Amino acid sequence: MSVIRSVVTGVGAYLPPKVVTNEDLAKFVDTSDEWIVERTGIRQRHQAADDQPVSDLAFEAAKEALEAAGKTAADVDLIIVATTTADLTFPAVATIVQRKLGAPVGIAFDVQAVCSGFVYALSVADGFVARGHAKCALVIGAETMTRLMDWSDRGTCVLFGDGAGAIVLEPGEGQGTTDDQGMLGFALRADGTKQDLLYVDGGVSTTGTVGKLRMLGNQVFKHAVVNISEAIHSAAANAGVEVADVDWFIPHQANQRILAGVAHRCGIDEEKVISTVAIHANTSAASIPLAFAHGVKDGRIKKGDLLLLEAMGGGLTWGACVLRL
Ligand code: ACO
Repeated sequence: MSVIRSVVTGVGAYLPPKVVTNEDLAKFVDTSDEWIVERTGIRQRHQAADDQPVSDLAFEAAKEALEAAGKTAADVDLIIVATTTADLTFPAVATIVQRKLGAPVGIAFDVQAVCSGFVYALSVADGFVARGHAKCALVIGAETMTRLMDWSDRGTCVLFGDGAGAIVLEPGEGQGTTDDQGMLGFALRADGTKQDLLYVDGGVSTTGTVGKLRMLGNQVFKHAVVNISEAIHSAAANAGVEVADVDWFIPHQANQRILAGVAHRCGIDEEKVISTVAIHANTSAASIPLAFAHGVKDGRIKKGDLLLLEAMGGGLTWGACVLRL
């Protein structure tokens, strides 16, 4: 049976030039390179310049993804940006990126699911593309998480960084089998009762301020491995594949111990895990496309590979996606 799938045809990434190492942080935060590396695997993070809004990061990643797909801005008819650190309360970052790219009038909006944002955005874009409502979609994860840091809270400020990643999705004809290129299965989850574990203590309709990120890290950690593993198995079942069939596991890059714990629980070989947390820390919604682009650029991830994406973040929200490149 012939079906329309949404197929990834290009990936791109952007990290702002400023690098902040663990040693740099230890100069003004009561921490050490040893503690951060041992507990998280993080060695450095990138930080956007003061005059660099998140739309600039998204724009750079989008340009690279379009080039990789052999497309131009003129082709783009859908832009979805997953972000929790927008330039302005409105308009959406997606419409700012549309303007910066010079893309024609089309559909553009943001998705807010914190670190799970990219997986959520991908499933929304899949709906548009696979139903014939978009022919060239940009799905972008972009964040300036360092703007949300309380630099006196060592339990959070060492964990996050800034960056952006993007993919281009186009319709492709498949046979309705797991050999098809494109999105094969999703599992999305949210549990609003766990808000207090991870949130920002400000907002438009409460304090009128941006606020700072607050996290009970060890409690989030406890939920992470169990919840993500369940979503992975559900996404694989929805796709009709076995987790063991996956060629590359591209997790949200929050903490090396979570990555390893999820891989271990799901029986995924360590060599199949794309890990970039050491070089850019937790970039929230940007981390999956950043790791994706990294794996493509270094030649590990190839056309035809079966990929497993997963994330968990504030909300709590979490989810997983299985696709064939
Ligand atoms: N440097 C040195 N010591 C520190 C630091 C630091 N940066 N941060 C905390 N500590 C200390 C604590 O004060 C505590 O000291 P105490 O024993 O004297 O009280 C000790 O280290 C242990 O603290 P824990 O919080 O229990 O440490 P844990 O091993 O849990 O590691 C971490 C903390 C890294 C935050 C971990 O819990 C984690 O990664 N959690 C999950 C984070 C995550 O994935 N979040 C979801 C995505 S983010 C999003 O959605 C926006």
